[in-house]
Amino acid sequence: MGLKKDGLKVLVVGGGGREHALVWKLRQSPRVAEVICAPGNAGIAGLAKTVNLGAEDIPALLNLAQQEKVDLTIVGPEAPLVAGIVDQFASAGLRVFGPRREAAMIEGSKVWAKEIMRKYNIPTARFAAFQEMAPAVAFLKEIGTPCVVKADGLAAGKGVTVAMDEATALEALRLIMEDRVFGEAGNSVVIEEYLEGEEVSILAFTDGQTVVPMVSAQDHKRVFDGDQGPNTGGMGAYSPAPVYTEEIHQQVVRTILEPTVKALRAEGREYVGVLYAGLMLTPTGPKVLEFNARFGDPETQVILPRLKTDLVDIMEAVLEGNLAEQSIAWLPEAAVCVVMASEDYPGSYPKGRVITGLEEAAKSALVFHAGTAFHEGQIVTNGGRVLGVTALGSDIKTAIASAYQAVSTINFAGCHYRQDIGYRALKKR
Ligand code: AMP
Ligand code: GLY
Repeated sequence: MGLKKDGLKVLVVGGGGREHALVWKLRQSPRVAEVICAPGNAGIAGLAKTVNLGAEDIPALLNLAQQEKVDLTIVGPEAPLVAGIVDQFASAGLRVFGPRREAAMIEGSKVWAKEIMRKYNIPTARFAAFQEMAPAVAFLKEIGTPCVVKADGLAAGKGVTVAMDEATALEALRLIMEDRVFGEAGNSVVIEEYLEGEEVSILAFTDGQTVVPMVSAQDHKRVFDGDQGPNTGGMGAYSPAPVYTEEIHQQVVRTILEPTVKALRAEGREYVGVLYAGLMLTPTGPKVLEFNARFGDPETQVILPRLKTDLVDIMEAVLEGNLAEQSIAWLPEAAVCVVMASEDYPGSYPKGRVITGLEEAAKSALVFHAGTAFHEGQIVTNGGRVLGVTALGSDIKTAIASAYQAVSTINFAGCHYRQDIGYRALKKR
């Protein structure tokens, strides 16, 4: 049974920039009457009713969805998906957009994801998985460096070490396996071949059969300009990625996206929702770095502003298994998102700093809130990534200029952001 034609009540789970972009897009749907977001943030509160429940508190979220008689729930972050929020909502007869627990494992276990890729010949870095230190060290010595060490489970984006030398790789192994810095998520470790190339994020809608890729995007994971410094959740993004040509796209669909969705079906774990492929474009073709079971953050902040089609129509088609009949249209404009982060992020950072200039910035850009909250009538910082300032433009260069123009009007103590978002796209032109 499809969703009601109109008057829909939608619940969005999460409270970051991705969820702000989702709520913003949903509010443009003529079918949507009301959006609720849990927990949301100060920006989302302008568009939706926010309810202070954690994104991982599945029983409380289920209770909320039932009490509010929500017609559709959309899950932003990975943790509730991997914990089975979709299964629990579906068992209660609620419509929910996202993969079930057994399919979300493609993000929840890197070892399992790599084994699936190996079994179905989906291009990815060569690897081995270990539960014990001694054979892991032996393998490391055998393959040499550079190599990449990954904790198996969810580690809030911190579980991957790209090791250029043996000491770094050994230290990463020791932290995961002996110090157990990621707890259970480090019960197994993947050691894999280092891939060289440019990264691109390809997100796709899928109903378990049909796969419809979204426009390409590129994230900027390192904290400093020129891709220096430690990894973060993402310091900015742009779309489209000029490096992602039509020829590469065809290869990605044929060798990665379609085979993966088919593989999951063959494994009895039909995948429904958004499948995110983090890819390395290597000299020998595109290879998978990781799969995520959800929309990317900050990628969503540059992808959804380019989506012309009603997101509810697409999600309904996904849930109904009708994606093949759903047309999806995109704006030709480029989009750029600059993340404004708290002092010392991605290390530990202060909260509660007053943010100014938001209204001025909103005149020329979309200011998606990530870590913000209200305090005594003001909007204050409440997370590592604070804002995602996004602009559209006729080309990347114009979009970059507009985004930074808006960024320049915003301020909070200790604020930092990269000055070079989109630089790779400019080089390509
Ligand atoms: P992941 O969470 O698996 O995407 O890894 C985080 C980041 O580590 C990626 O975005 C890449 O920049 C880097 N990375 C992961 N795997 C590899 C690899 N095999 N070769 C080179 N870089 C990698
Ligand atoms: N931008 C990386 C992620 O969403 O995992």
